[in-house]
Amino acid sequence: MSARTAYRGTLVDFTDDPRVSAGALRVIDDGLLVVNDGKVESAGPAAAALAALPPGTPVVDHGGSLIMPGFIDAHVHYPQTDVIASHGKQLLDWLTDYTFPTESSFGDAAHAATVAEFFLDELERNGTTTAAIYATIHPESVDAIFAAAQKRNMRVIAGKVMMDVNAPDSLRDEAEQSYADSKMLIERWHGKDRLLYGITPRFAATSTERQLELAGKLMDEHAGMHMQTHLAENHAEVKWIAELFPWSKSYLGVYEKFGLVRPGSLYGHSIHLSADDWRTLGENGAAVIHCPTSNLFLGSGLFDLDAANASGTLAGLATDVGGGTSFSMLRTMHEAYKVAQLARRPFTSLDGFYLATLGGARSLGLADKLGNFEAGKEADFIVLDPKATPLIERRYGIAQDMTQKLFVLMMLGDDRLVARTYILGEPARLSA
Ligand code: GUN
Ligand code: ZN
Repeated sequence: MSARTAYRGTLVDFTDDPRVSAGALRVIDDGLLVVNDGKVESAGPAAAALAALPPGTPVVDHGGSLIMPGFIDAHVHYPQTDVIASHGKQLLDWLTDYTFPTESSFGDAAHAATVAEFFLDELERNGTTTAAIYATIHPESVDAIFAAAQKRNMRVIAGKVMMDVNAPDSLRDEAEQSYADSKMLIERWHGKDRLLYGITPRFAATSTERQLELAGKLMDEHAGMHMQTHLAENHAEVKWIAELFPWSKSYLGVYEKFGLVRPGSLYGHSIHLSADDWRTLGENGAAVIHCPTSNLFLGSGLFDLDAANASGTLAGLATDVGGGTSFSMLRTMHEAYKVAQLARRPFTSLDGFYLATLGGARSLGLADKLGNFEAGKEADFIVLDPKATPLIERRYGIAQDMTQKLFVLMMLGDDRLVARTYILGEPARLSA
């Protein structure tokens, strides 16, 4: 393929948060996305752009479909691919009965590689081009996901889970060893091609204070690196944290004490928080990650996006597979809407698609590289076919404007809607 290729279709992206800027949604009905060497060169009306293209530039016609930035899944566990849809438990029992036994097998490099390939196939089939991914405690599991993502040219954040207490023997590391392993993996993978390391203490309950301190030390030693963990997901979990860390004024206070609340910190779930916690998150530049399918599936609670916005806290959206019930960010937006309905809060289609694209990029501190079709950004994008099913085609045809059309896609769409996923301007190469 030549270095420059153009893609024609209806271009849809965001220039800002639609809650902040009324004109943030950008729609170009007959648009042309021009990609050069894996980067966006321009995005504009097709008529003018076609006339300006150098002769011989290939034009791929996706007419009738929407072209939008690839989805960003800001919190997901690849080793939990095989526990998705496990019945009947809430968080702590779900971890003990399903998740920990499954994660125990990821010291086996061949098994980890097989699951990593399957997992990334699922992401790409669902239009997800970037994710913040948890591995397991095993360095082999980190090697497997980075090697698979590197082969596909994907931009991912991933890290070794640090977990040295309150877990089965097969899944416990040791504080100093977890620090040394994380450092070795950072040197091996961070900044190679599009790969980014994320320091990954699982959650306060499965780390000693020494391990949390060392996680903070890793952040100090690697400026700008991500840290991902879980926060205030479930009432029993919050109570347990209060028992384990009686000196702390709150769950977030534990992370704060060890220097883990700062830009680059990604807090999955973040449901049961006080006004004081929200202030701390916002003032320190941390991000919270909304995992609606998981929060409903595990009966955890209703995330408050309005509180995040009011406190100036960055927010992303995520599947949280395997607590989450779908790899699809469309299904995830769908359930974010229902969560907001249950809490009598607003949530529009623009909120959903923003969080899955530019908002997700901002939450991960990657908006200089990803999230919309600004010139110079990395050309990860997807093609959504509004004729994917008879029902979607019918209902989409009735919708009056793009806000309504996007709502139809968000409520009725899933992987069937995703006709094509492009990574750096190249069609995704699934392993299957
Ligand atoms: N809290 C600690 N570990 C996990 C996990 O793997 N999934 C979810 N949903 N919550 C957690
Ligand atoms: Zn999680």
